[in-house]
Amino acid sequence: VKRITVHTLQEMKNRGEKIAMLTAYDYSMAAIVDAAGTDVILVGDSASNVMAGHETTLPITLDQMIYHASSVVRAAKRALVVVDLPFGSYQGNSKEALSSAIRIMKEAGAHAVKLEGGVEIAESITRILTAGIPVMGHLGLTPQSIYKFGTYTVRAKEEAEAAKLQEDALKLQELGCFGVVLEKIPSKLAREVTDSINIPTIGIGAGKHCSGQVLVIHDMLGLNKGFKPRFLRQYANLFDVMDGAIKNYVSDVRANSFPNEKEEY
Ligand code: KIV
Ligand code: NA
Repeated sequence: VKRITVHTLQEMKNRGEKIAMLTAYDYSMAAIVDAAGTDVILVGDSASNVMAGHETTLPITLDQMIYHASSVVRAAKRALVVVDLPFGSYQGNSKEALSSAIRIMKEAGAHAVKLEGGVEIAESITRILTAGIPVMGHLGLTPQSIYKFGTYTVRAKEEAEAAKLQEDALKLQELGCFGVVLEKIPSKLAREVTDSINIPTIGIGAGKHCSGQVLVIHDMLGLNKGFKPRFLRQYANLFDVMDGAIKNYVSDVRANSFPNEKEEY
């Protein structure tokens, strides 16, 4: 199979072909996501929530992201693997940002990194790009700033924040980012941003006009029972599938009906 690269994504955008991106954090899940034809696998810092059970993305460490990323890279035969730089690994200064990005590329074998923010992190993005590491931007609802926002509601509904987001998107393109995630912003704004830049936009809760879409794999598979925001489409109900299987196992063990003669040596 031919590996997806950042150039493939630009060609897809140019041809008007939508880009499908999903998260994964471990080998087994990533192997399924890759083989099913997903173009980009994001090792998101949402691992902090869905894998580690934290309330926010802030606690996950660079070492933990590298562990998740290295597992995903071993599974991905076709997809481009993008890895989030976690909170605290790049905000200090551009030198720190570069050394974090280098660790992700070198120790995990990732293909690109993603950072949250616009003009504020321009210097860091430039420094990482200068080292030959592809960078994806992330604007709108940036969960590493949750304590600044106060809520996970839609961003950039007001003119000032929308204008800043437009500027940031242009800046990310100008710096040389290969794409930008737009999270939880009005569809109309996502369309304007997508039309105003050449690089692909990947939306989550940002409407249908983006160049592609991304979802957290646990959410779209219905593993996260209580989580049903408006933007989420659940493609399966794996919670109930797993719940049923596990309950059957527990009851079989209790009834001493597992294992049977065919299942013993
Ligand atoms: O960490 C993550 O899963 C993300 C996506 C939601 C874009 O950044
Ligand atoms: Na993230």
